[in-house]
Amino acid sequence: MRTLKNLFDRNREWAAGIKEKDPEFFSRLSHQQTPQYLWIGCSDSRVPATEIVDLAPGEIFVHRNIANLVVHSDLNCLSVIQFAVDVLKVKHIIVCGHYGCGGVRAALSGENHGLMDNWIQHIREIYRQHHSVLDAKSDESERHRLLCELNVKEQVWNVCQTTFVKEAWKSGAELNVHGWIYDISDGILKDLGVTVTDYAEASAMRARLS
Ligand code: CO
Repeated sequence: MRTLKNLFDRNREWAAGIKEKDPEFFSRLSHQQTPQYLWIGCSDSRVPATEIVDLAPGEIFVHRNIANLVVHSDLNCLSVIQFAVDVLKVKHIIVCGHYGCGGVRAALSGENHGLMDNWIQHIREIYRQHHSVLDAKSDESERHRLLCELNVKEQVWNVCQTTFVKEAWKSGAELNVHGWIYDISDGILKDLGVTVTDYAEASAMRARLS
């Protein structure tokens, strides 16, 4: 199939529907974007950022990768964070994981997944750091859910360690970093209670984790 006609048809209907409700919507957005939020989430098709929090185009800046990781050598993710913080001046960075994450499951399985193992290795490191609390869970699904949560918290810490976030805090900018988790089985978001608003809070949060 050379063209995905059904998707173009849906696109026309979607754009027409929005224009009907708000004729200036697209022309207004075409001038600038002023999102308040940066979302760092998983690529999983069941976890679409904008839909989950019911926001319109223009309201949320998004970066997604397998298992919502913030890796300090990942120029893609770092560029997104820098642009969001320095240029868009977002007030909130949300790291959102989800239960049932295939990346986290792969890290727990120990099976070979090819190239992806290099990415998953970052989650295996988190497992290693928290192995005593994780191994104490006899139930496999509980262990999986806990690692999904720990992964989010560690990624919140990684966001806080980026130079741009530290600089923003030093300059007195309002910037909150949040850790959330989404349940694909009921569509409900949960705040993991690790929100930090400055570097001291971030360090204290990280200390509580280990
Ligand atoms: Co996932």
